[in-house]
Amino acid sequence: MKLPNLNEARKRTNKETEYIYLNQNYDKKAFVGEKYFLKTYGCQMNVHDGEEIASRLESLGFTPTDTLEQADIIILNTCAIRENAHDKLYGFLGRCKHAKKNNKNLIIGICGCMAQEESVVKELIAKHPYVDIVFGTHNIHELQDLILNRKNKQNIEVYSCEGNVYENISYKRDSNIKAWVNIQYGCDKFCTYCIVPYTRGKQRSRKSSEIIKEVEQLVKNGYQEVTLLGQNVNAYGKDLKDEMSFAQLLEAVAKTNIARVRFVTSHPWDFTDEMIETIAKYDNIMPYIHLPLQSGSSRILKLMGRRYTKEEYLNLYAKIKKAMPNCAITTDIIVGFPNETDEDFKETLDVVNKCQYDSAFTFIFSPREGTPAAKMEDETDMTTKEERLQELNKLINSYSLAANKKYIDKIVPVLIEGISEKDKNKVFGYTDTMKLVNITNGQDKIGQIVNVKITDAKSFSLDGIIEE
Ligand code: SAH
Ligand code: SF4
Ligand code: F3S
Repeated sequence: MKLPNLNEARKRTNKETEYIYLNQNYDKKAFVGEKYFLKTYGCQMNVHDGEEIASRLESLGFTPTDTLEQADIIILNTCAIRENAHDKLYGFLGRCKHAKKNNKNLIIGICGCMAQEESVVKELIAKHPYVDIVFGTHNIHELQDLILNRKNKQNIEVYSCEGNVYENISYKRDSNIKAWVNIQYGCDKFCTYCIVPYTRGKQRSRKSSEIIKEVEQLVKNGYQEVTLLGQNVNAYGKDLKDEMSFAQLLEAVAKTNIARVRFVTSHPWDFTDEMIETIAKYDNIMPYIHLPLQSGSSRILKLMGRRYTKEEYLNLYAKIKKAMPNCAITTDIIVGFPNETDEDFKETLDVVNKCQYDSAFTFIFSPREGTPAAKMEDETDMTTKEERLQELNKLINSYSLAANKKYIDKIVPVLIEGISEKDKNKVFGYTDTMKLVNITNGQDKIGQIVNVKITDAKSFSLDGIIEE
């Protein structure tokens, strides 16, 4: 049994990343007829890990179910980014425990970023002995062995330190139209509030040749869109000798002729002019950038360890908009960072007023054990923080609506992804700028990029009709 340790995770080793080509074959008969229930929380990285986990479960013969009660194995793929993650985990575990009463052979597995937290794993061992397997973000490739080797005791395999890069991974992708493609794992930025560098380890870039090979295969299989995935995509390659820059990688991916290329998330500090030029140059690189601000106050940004000032962020924003006036820009903002003052918060509102984001994810600061910000003194009360969040959201929503309204009566290309869940007579898709569009016709156009006339706009979506 190995336990994770956040302090150990902070001490980055100089160990060179190993690139391991997996060649795993499992006898598909072990669990034939048995069902798996997989629940994933968190970011796109976790969602994509979920696609790997699903594929691994199916390699043992499991088939999916979306009913907990029918499951023979339950895997909970957790996120640790904010405090409420713990409530979600323990709430869900209650349901699992109940399911196990009715099915003694039920296997319960916990993985994802919370499984990389020492306190969580210790509590699982001590208080939740009905949990069968725990594995970390660096051990997903061991899942089948963990399941097969479980001998009526908890099987726990979580490394504290960074893992390797595994190639030849098989995924059960959620879509046959758009795909996630990891370009790097981990993060080296250590923003003072953030737990990701501990739960995901140091930055490890995949080799560009492997990334291109994966995208080429997706093109062959009829995929229309890839999203290059990483916590800090534009630091791509900086951990490798003789590797491409992120801008060069974007260009190489665009040249595979995949219809749409997206990427998430880019850090303002690593954003280069070369990137802006490349995004502007290629029609198949989408004019959409998620550019997390976190705070508009240079004082708070410094405390956050973000490595840019308000002015530098605004300059970057202006450069992007100058090169691509129609580029949509979205952001992440944290309010209530330790001792954020009214003045600091006003600076954030000022940036929002200047950037008029297409949309934004907003959060109240959540202290994460083991991070420097969790130890910072904080005298601001929660009511003030909640009021700030509300005020910020109101402002952001007004800009989202205004940005969306500009689309009314325009004809824009939309990749149709499927039938709308809310209204089975409609289909939905996304514009190149990542706006969700609900469309009244087009059931026969799923998987295609078609011209859609926008008829109405709300804060979070557009309505449209396909131009025949
Ligand atoms: N790598 C991305 C962000 C990943 S986490 C980046 O650097 O932008 C997604 C978002 O969660 C962050 O952008 C931040 O806004 C928010 N977040 C991270 N840690 C948080 C914390 N401790 N409390 C509140 N929000 C947090
Ligand atoms: Fe967290 Fe900062 Fe890394 Fe993003 S860049 S994952 S916020 S440490
Ligand atoms: Fe959550 Fe881990 Fe992603 S903490 S946001 S699932 S990297």
